[in-house]
Amino acid sequence: MDNKRRVRKAVFPVAGLGTRFLPATKAVPKEMLTIVDKPVIQYVVEEAAAAGIEHFIFVTGRNKGVIEDHFDIQFELNETLKSRGKKAEFDLVQSMLPRAGTTSFTRQQEPLGLGHAVWCARDIVGDEPFALLLPDMLMNDQKGCLSGMMDLYATAGGNIVSVEECDPELAHKYGIVGIGDSIGDGFRITEMVEKPKKGTAPSNWFINGRYILQPEIFSILETQERGAGNEIQLTDGMLKLADRSSFAGYKFRGDTYDCGSKDGFIKANIAFAMARDDLRGLIEDDLRAMLKA
Ligand code: G1P
Repeated sequence: MDNKRRVRKAVFPVAGLGTRFLPATKAVPKEMLTIVDKPVIQYVVEEAAAAGIEHFIFVTGRNKGVIEDHFDIQFELNETLKSRGKKAEFDLVQSMLPRAGTTSFTRQQEPLGLGHAVWCARDIVGDEPFALLLPDMLMNDQKGCLSGMMDLYATAGGNIVSVEECDPELAHKYGIVGIGDSIGDGFRITEMVEKPKKGTAPSNWFINGRYILQPEIFSILETQERGAGNEIQLTDGMLKLADRSSFAGYKFRGDTYDCGSKDGFIKANIAFAMARDDLRGLIEDDLRAMLKA
């Protein structure tokens, strides 16, 4: 089968409880916490849209309804903005609205792991390749991480995962890949291991939360047994898929912020604010003064 079919759909697993961010996440989904003035999930959806994605699939859970509302028309808000003549605000809200019929929502009913969350999207994705973006990871890069991966996909086809180097001491926290021959902006992947025990990682290149996957992954995940952390791991399923379909690693060169951790979230807020012309001048001097204090 053609292994370079067009990637039209993206999956966003957003069912996690966000326990690392309590009490902020008691009633508000972690994906709705804001980086400057946009919820984390919106940045990730925009990255996907910029890469040509046409359909956005959210794997949600209980208490996540507000994510669905965020990507819908807020009738009362619109009317109020119009009647008060707040055109800029009205245009801003309209501009981020996905086209009707391009979002889908399904639920992961039990927290059984990332592999299980992805499997929950199988009927909506159907028999075509898809992108997967983990919303905890925010990427700051001119090109857009998924756009770069699409370029590599056009050459390599098959499955692509975005990777970057980490401190070898932290390899046990991630999915780690083995490095093969170079291809395009990346390399062929020779092996994959989820959260390797200290000292056993095949490299320090970790999977940073962006994937392009062939649909054969779904039948593999259907029977995938639990792995690291007693969860159904996507990486274990990908390892089986690698027996019949190629995997390439895209070397991501921009900045990555793990917004599931407090330090990553704070750093992302500072970095994204400093990148904005309307804010940099307002905070730069204060930040410098705080660092000197
Ligand atoms: C997941 C993936 C892992 C990847 C990581 C990136 O792990 O299973 O392979 O390296 O995301 O954030 P989690 O963070 O859900 O434990």
